[in-house]
Amino acid sequence: MDLVQRPRRLRASAAIRELVTENRVHPKDLILPVFVKEGATNPVPLAAMPGVWQHTFTSLEQELQRAVELGIGAIMVFAIPVEKDAIGSGATAPDGILNQSIRFVKERVGHKLVIVADLCLDEFTDHGHCGVLDALGQVDNDATLVRYQEMALALAAAGADLLGASGMMDGQVAAVRAALDDAGFTEVGILAYAAKYASAFYGPFREAVESSLQGDRKSYQQDPANAKESLREIALDINEGADIVMVKPGTMYLDIVATSSQYVEVPIASYIVSGEMAMVEFAAAAGAIDRQRAIMELATSVKRAGAKIICTYWALEIAAWLKEN
Ligand code: PBG
Repeated sequence: MDLVQRPRRLRASAAIRELVTENRVHPKDLILPVFVKEGATNPVPLAAMPGVWQHTFTSLEQELQRAVELGIGAIMVFAIPVEKDAIGSGATAPDGILNQSIRFVKERVGHKLVIVADLCLDEFTDHGHCGVLDALGQVDNDATLVRYQEMALALAAAGADLLGASGMMDGQVAAVRAALDDAGFTEVGILAYAAKYASAFYGPFREAVESSLQGDRKSYQQDPANAKESLREIALDINEGADIVMVKPGTMYLDIVATSSQYVEVPIASYIVSGEMAMVEFAAAAGAIDRQRAIMELATSVKRAGAKIICTYWALEIAAWLKEN
């Protein structure tokens, strides 16, 4: 055969494949989400998220040590309070479980890991919505912004480096940025969940945080059918002062990452969410796919699409595999 082009030459050995590989996951790209349960005496395993736990402070501390040893980039803290109310008071109480957890993480590993705090009310409201409700029971955007400002100050005071603005309220980045700056927290950054879709793939997470939500979040999270709308949301958040923008869910919405990465000058993060994780875990448990290969393929796909940062429950395992190689 008279073939001039033989792309297979660059696939012939592991060494040459490594040489020409275009995208690689690095441990420092990874954010590990963790859950801390108020009042728990033992860590609680999550049925739909194999290997993920609701932590006590003791088990959290072990997780933090592993995160430091394996050299991942950041930790993202979620907390589950005992008490919930209509305005999510626990989110702003300085001794509320989230603020307490941030302080705990800051003291132990604050100099080694970036600390991201989830800035959203849904874990703390008895109705389970990401904001406060008006007299008609609808999510009140602007009243919610005031609560986000209060929450931002509490999280910053507790020691968070980045606030994960995940509520999808209009104007949330600007409101939080202004509150932080007025209080002198100019160094605290905002990781904006700029393009967050109303997704069925958050199902297992709702178990993890013991969500009280009835109904759905379609009046604030995006319609999975829309792509252009994400560009608008991302542009708005960057104009409002977002330091990093997130696309979520991660692997279902690679098109959004790929398109926006052509325009956006801030780092893009992508969150491989609980339901995406569950699909892999249960398929692997059934013997249908090779678990490690599937996980690495997903993580690499997120990078290939253009995300710098990957938020994943598999962060420690991925980092350990990378270390072995
Ligand atoms: C809301 C929040 C959600 C997730 C992260 N932050 C759930 C939601 O919007 O209902 C989902 C993460 C996952 O599924 O892994 N604060």
